[in-house]
Amino acid sequence: MSAPLFETMFGSASDGVGRTDAANRAAFAGVELRPRVLVDVRSRTLATTVLRDHVALPVLLGPIGGATRAHPDAEIAVVRAAAAAGTATVVSLASSHSIEAVVAAAGGPVWFQLYLLKSAEANRRLAEHAEAIGCSALVVTVDNPGVLTREDSRTRKRVRGTIAALGLDEVLGARGPVLESVDPAATWREIELLRSHCSLPIVVKGIQTAEDAALCREHGAAAIVVSNHGGQALVDPLGTLRRLPEVVAAAGGLEIYLDGGVREGADVLKALALGARAVLIGRAHLWGLAVAGEAGVRAVLEILRGELEAAMMFCGVTAVAEVDRRLVAAAAGRHRARVGAL
Ligand SMILES: Cc1cc2nc3c(=O)[nH]c(=O)nc-3n(C[C@H](O)[C@H](O)[C@H](O)COP(=O)(O)O)c2cc1C
Repeated sequence: MSAPLFETMFGSASDGVGRTDAANRAAFAGVELRPRVLVDVRSRTLATTVLRDHVALPVLLGPIGGATRAHPDAEIAVVRAAAAAGTATVVSLASSHSIEAVVAAAGGPVWFQLYLLKSAEANRRLAEHAEAIGCSALVVTVDNPGVLTREDSRTRKRVRGTIAALGLDEVLGARGPVLESVDPAATWREIELLRSHCSLPIVVKGIQTAEDAALCREHGAAAIVVSNHGGQALVDPLGTLRRLPEVVAAAGGLEIYLDGGVREGADVLKALALGARAVLIGRAHLWGLAVAGEAGVRAVLEILRGELEAAMMFCGVTAVAEVDRRLVAAAAGRHRARVGAL
């Protein structure tokens, strides 16, 4: 991958002092696990459920637009690797392959990720289409009101194709980035509208505050992804893991997932201890994809699974469902001086 492409795909918001993706990582480093010993850990259960789906480990593959820039097999490779690991994939509206082809190649659950477009009809039809072809949840990404415009022409063409196939091409302007079609006027009403038209559970991706978590609940979301878009939005010195506890406290029982900076098995345990039901990975699997396609993504998932099992054994944990707050040090984890030193 060329250096400019690498920076386009993996870059992060930065204020010249720190980068948000580094803050996401540092938040994990600032939380201490409290290992318990002399527990019989010969057998371990990593399986859990996310909404209606069973997964073999609490790690889902997050949506990545334009993944063909990393590898030509892109989402097809990702869903195959996810099936081998027994987990679910969130496929982006900006998928490099048609959503139909991705679902057809998948051996496991596929969730469809939607940006709220300027046309309510397009949002509705895309959601209905996702349901009709067998996706099992609708992930609505709300942390980008159309301001990220780094997209390649192939991705643009594909998204336009997806929309044109539904007879909706008139809802997008004739040219310009697809993200210009994301609606900066979207509000919670769009979530309600989708809910009334589509029976898939709705996951709201990009929540960082207690207030918005409460609104997710009020407006009928089934789950939340605490996310700062992998650091590609606002500069944030805190990191998503540190925002997780307030969201969990306000979400009143909705399932909460977390992404941003998950790179190793112990990170998964820390997120679960602070109230997440599962994590999503972005860069981690994209790196595997870039290096070796499906085999690369499989390897990433195997490494993560092995590390998670090892971390469980070191901590005296036998089932991911048993993980709770006692596994980490007090008060959302002490945030060491590391973020300040970024
Ligand atoms: C190249 C790239 C493309 C992305 N495309 C999308 C997208 O189309 N939709 C979306 O909701 N999130 C998108 N994201 C954000 C990821 O789904 C996820 O929130 C983020 O990568 C998690 O952080 P991590 O990379 O540190 O794991 C993208 C991230 C990257 C790095």
